[in-house]
Amino acid sequence: MDLNTDILEKARAYEARYAPFIPAQDRPAYHFTPPIGWMNDPNGWSWYKGEYHLFFQYHPYDVHWGPMHWGHATSKDGIVWQFHPAALGPDQPYDKDGVFSGSAVELDDGRLLLMYTGNCNEIQPDGSKLEVQTQAIAIGDGENFEKIAQNPVLTAKDLPEGGSRVDFRDPKIWREPDGTFKAVIGNRTEDGSGSVLLYSSCNGLDWTYESLIDRSWNEFGRMWECPDYFELDGSQILVVSPQDMQVSGLEFHNGNNTMAIVGHINKETGKFERDSLQSLDYGIDYYAPQSLLHPDGRRIAIGWMENWDACMPQITGQRWNGQMSVPRELTMENGRLLQNPIKELEAYRSRMVRHIFTVSEETSMPGIFGRVCDVTVEIEPVGSQEYEKFEMKIASGNQHYTKLTYKPRSSILKIDRSHAGSMRDIVHERKCHVANRNGKLKLRILLDRFGVEVFVNDGQQVLSAAIHTPMSANGITFAVEGQARICAEKYDLHFEGETKHD
Ligand code: FRU
Repeated sequence: MDLNTDILEKARAYEARYAPFIPAQDRPAYHFTPPIGWMNDPNGWSWYKGEYHLFFQYHPYDVHWGPMHWGHATSKDGIVWQFHPAALGPDQPYDKDGVFSGSAVELDDGRLLLMYTGNCNEIQPDGSKLEVQTQAIAIGDGENFEKIAQNPVLTAKDLPEGGSRVDFRDPKIWREPDGTFKAVIGNRTEDGSGSVLLYSSCNGLDWTYESLIDRSWNEFGRMWECPDYFELDGSQILVVSPQDMQVSGLEFHNGNNTMAIVGHINKETGKFERDSLQSLDYGIDYYAPQSLLHPDGRRIAIGWMENWDACMPQITGQRWNGQMSVPRELTMENGRLLQNPIKELEAYRSRMVRHIFTVSEETSMPGIFGRVCDVTVEIEPVGSQEYEKFEMKIASGNQHYTKLTYKPRSSILKIDRSHAGSMRDIVHERKCHVANRNGKLKLRILLDRFGVEVFVNDGQQVLSAAIHTPMSANGITFAVEGQARICAEKYDLHFEGETKHD
């Protein structure tokens, strides 16, 4: 065995040896977590041989980021996962400092092609290190992959003038109806801010630069990481994860964001012409999503439910760090991208409890509690009266809770996890404008042991946050200032055995 394959074999042996000792109840019940160690972006998110394949940025040996490998899992329904041995390790000269993010497509011969960024620190004449990024390919059967001899397939020579070879990463590949291959890749232009480059290929191996389709112009953050591009219900969507953004109203917050640009590619100029921009998540933790086209026609995305400024482990002795969102079904409505939980989650619902009620002081309702549950709440004013404020606490008990507050006059919804158990001085609150529907609001709350995702008004907004709340805090309460009718429906979510090991 040569030194190169040793790196992957060592990671596989390590995860096989230690991951099975992590008790299922120390992980989220249905938000994907790595077998062991650190995880960030979803990679190679694809439908292959009748199931979802999820690869991910992975450092098995530690709960902190380190030399990136690709971890691997599969799922029949996007909810219950089976771990597989790590798929790629940093074992070649061009990727020795990290097998960075990338994506997957199926080839005509039935094999799976992975395209990823090789990260390599080059020593400069003055002794300093320069991170150089190139694109590479590995092909395999869905379990074992071989990096091709002609790697790297895209290097600095394939960049447009002024393009950065330091920030050139995260290829998202897809196949056109005629079978040819396209990929969007994140880059930086000479002004130092992000851009998305389009490449094409006839066979998936030999690539040609096509055009710079859109760029930040220093307006929407700096580097644009993890681009994605797809067509949806007649619109074309470019998704990017900008770094170092400045706040912009309640739409974008400081730091890393996820942004969808709705518009279309002008075939003559090769440029993406924007119609509108929107944030993909108004909560605290969501980044680097990737989407796939399910054979039944649904466009399904999954994102890293953490963020770079807050992803330090918080629980002593915890042996995994990083979780994924629940896969989200994407649709378009009046030019806006909507996101809703994948419908397969509903198969795990049990014990429905439903109440229609009015409250003023903080109140819990019989049977409405839990930490692994799916709760839908609809609030509406009573008659022609207005109400001032609706407040809901989830994962609540003793001094802990995560609070959702809605003020219909301003139509602002806030998530506040400052009492959710965090020991870190990081962002704990975020607000967003939601559609003003005369005081009516619908929230679907997916609560899990280590996180919450709140889908607003059938997917018009999502707010996601990781939480570190003791499992005993399983209360749910409601309070209203003024008169409002609440309809609350709760299902427990039940998963036999949860994630399995190979
Ligand atoms: C995004 C990112 C990617 C990169 C990867 C490295 O979170 O920074 O741009 O490929 O993570 O782990």
